Amino acid sequence: MAAIAETAFEWDADSILPARPMPPKEAPGIAMALLKPRLLANLIASYPDYWYKVRYCDFRVGISRTGRGVLINEPEAIRRVLVTEAEHFPKEDNQLAILKPLLGNGLLTAEGAEWRRNRKLAAPIFQHSSVKDFAPLFVRAAERSAKRALEHNGVYRIDQEMTKLTLEIIGEAVLSADLDESIEGISDTVTETLDKFPAMFLASAFLPGSLRDRFIEAIVNPGRRQLDRFARKIIEEAKADDAEATTLLHRLMAASRSEDGHEMTVDQIRDEVATFLLAGHETTATTMTWVWYLLTLYPEWQERIREEVLQVTGGRPLDAEDVPSLVLTRAVIDEALRLYPVVANLMRRAEKTTELLPDLTVPKGEAILISPWLLHRHRRHWRDPDHFDPMRFIGEEAAARPRHVYMPFGGGHRICIGASFAILEAILILGTYAQRAHINVVNAGEVMPQARIVLRPNVPLRAMVTPSGTF
Ligand code: HEM
Repeated sequence: MAAIAETAFEWDADSILPARPMPPKEAPGIAMALLKPRLLANLIASYPDYWYKVRYCDFRVGISRTGRGVLINEPEAIRRVLVTEAEHFPKEDNQLAILKPLLGNGLLTAEGAEWRRNRKLAAPIFQHSSVKDFAPLFVRAAERSAKRALEHNGVYRIDQEMTKLTLEIIGEAVLSADLDESIEGISDTVTETLDKFPAMFLASAFLPGSLRDRFIEAIVNPGRRQLDRFARKIIEEAKADDAEATTLLHRLMAASRSEDGHEMTVDQIRDEVATFLLAGHETTATTMTWVWYLLTLYPEWQERIREEVLQVTGGRPLDAEDVPSLVLTRAVIDEALRLYPVVANLMRRAEKTTELLPDLTVPKGEAILISPWLLHRHRRHWRDPDHFDPMRFIGEEAAARPRHVYMPFGGGHRICIGASFAILEAILILGTYAQRAHINVVNAGEVMPQARIVLRPNVPLRAMVTPSGTF
């Protein structure tokens, strides 16, 4: 068969917007679940138009108790649920039912005393002032990655490259592990498990608790066993390594040996390793994949970033001190996280009846949906909500924005612990690539966002990677 030549993707940026599913006329409900289960498998595609306009409304998905609740789009109500009264709004059991079989009781899924102790243990590594120390590692890894992409002949799977790059980084920075040999295995395991999300979601919407848990466990088990093997290998390697206790894994292992009566078991360490392995790379890799998609649609922004980086560095490699000056580069990442927040939905449950707003009382037991996807495109909170415009994150417009309408990293005490790490990592990856390469995603016209635990493109992203001329 003759090879089909790939051509660069071009489009009319004035008349077409970045991809989003067409909202259905009706809200998801039992009828939609039965007639169009595929729509529910990509949750954001089931959100009707009016959900992008209302302050709050009821929602119902499937038939189980966990499948109904209230959606809130109002910053004040969100602040109360996530920040000021967070102790009365724990994570929703249906979301946990999907994540716990895979991640056990790691930081993302644990609650109560165990969560508090481990958050405290991990916090020093991820605070804003400490993550700067990782900058040279981020730059070196991004340089190697751009070299791989440039050396490849023909179109290149830029989404896979972002996974490889972010796995290398999380391995070295957080888990003291060289993941080189395991990278393909880990990324296949993640993809296979995320692909099972529609079945898990439908099970959680339709089956009663115990049946739901057994069903989900059965489909997650192969991925869990794989992840177990990787995590235990990482722990074994770190035990053999007598480096200073600088990485998260060293801190966890030191805590497991401490004699304060709160020893961590190997299983607990495994859960944290699996959590950081997954939460720490898939999210940033997917965000960078969305960045390349958007920069293909708006190549003039790729040029603006290149010019900004050149002006700041004069052509030398980037370092942490440059980051505050990379204003446009940062704004592009903020805008990518607004249009495609990789954690598209947060779920909580009301432990007691609460008057969240003068006209909204949430009964005890009700599920609460806070959706960065909806909030970030809400018609009252944003001008031109579906347009790509990084300038909205700069200057007065950004300063005037109320809190809790933009929340790619969640909020309150369960806010992403890796937020500063991820932002620095993304800026340095984008800046380092901009110095070296131009990316054009040749199949950008096929892309549609798909919510599968993380919000990913529905197709692999194939890109032409050409030298950008600075280096
Ligand atoms: C662009 C990248 C990232 C995004 C958009 C993101 C988003 C989020 C969000 C929204 C949450 C809160 C979930 C909830 O409240 O239910 C979260 C939690 C978490 N994230 Fe991230 N994340 C990113 C990168 C990272 C990185 C790089 C790490 C680790 C190095 C990480 C580790 C975690 C952990 C451990 C939690 C649970 C924190 C807790 O509950 O105490 N994330 N993330």
